[in-house]
Amino acid sequence: MVIKNKFGVKVYDENSLDKMRIACGLASATLDYLESFVKPGVTTKYIDQMCEEFVRKNGGVPTCKGYKGFPASLCISINEVACHGIPNNTQLKSGDIVNLDVVVEVGGWHGDTSRTFAVGELSKQHKDLVKIAEEAMYVGINSVKANGCFNDIGVAVEKYVASQEGYCLVKEFCGHGIGRNMHEEPLVLHFAVNNQTSPIEPGMFFTIEPIISCGSPHVKQMKDGWTMVTKDKSYAAQFEHTLFVGYDDKIHILT
Ligand code: MF3
Ligand code: CO
Ligand code: CO
Repeated sequence: MVIKNKFGVKVYDENSLDKMRIACGLASATLDYLESFVKPGVTTKYIDQMCEEFVRKNGGVPTCKGYKGFPASLCISINEVACHGIPNNTQLKSGDIVNLDVVVEVGGWHGDTSRTFAVGELSKQHKDLVKIAEEAMYVGINSVKANGCFNDIGVAVEKYVASQEGYCLVKEFCGHGIGRNMHEEPLVLHFAVNNQTSPIEPGMFFTIEPIISCGSPHVKQMKDGWTMVTKDKSYAAQFEHTLFVGYDDKIHILT
């Protein structure tokens, strides 16, 4: 059973949680598995193959494959690619930061998660970037309260990132509701807005996934129609979890 609140945000029943735990658990296990391939010389196409094989072997379907024509089973975004990178013949090399963003469907339910991994040794600036991106996600997660509102997340993440000199939030991308579809209402912004946002209620599933840049906060799309690159080619990092607001009023990180 699912109803929508007056902001159009779905409120799922308790049984939905068991289904989402399975999809989200597989999404997270997929990233655990793929981490072992993140090393110099490995192509992103190979990681894509390993991803698709692992997801299908474990009873899932890679949601991204064929989504609006996306050609691969996950997004792989290296260095200045902020998100939506398409796996190809590029080989990973020491000093790269690489985000793997995987969405898995199991029985019609979707789990979405991403992490940024270091390939070999990183510069101090890029090591800090990865740390700040992960921390920004957790600051967002820790701001989530049943009976709070979605703007709380934006207020918290924006404030945290503003305190990190030399780093900024890429505002052009946001989190989202999730469940029976990869993308559902609402848009989960990582910065504050003045208009009223939906309350956060038990039964909601959504992602938090701030992208942090160490240069320009702006991105542009490449000619392939997907790959988003920072305008000044500075590196960007991202982490993402899928959450559930429990009927126990606890916030569950499902991925
Ligand atoms: N995983 C992305 C997100 O966090 C969306 C992927 S777009 C796709 O929302 F085309 F690759 F599916
Ligand atoms: Co994602
Ligand atoms: Co997402």
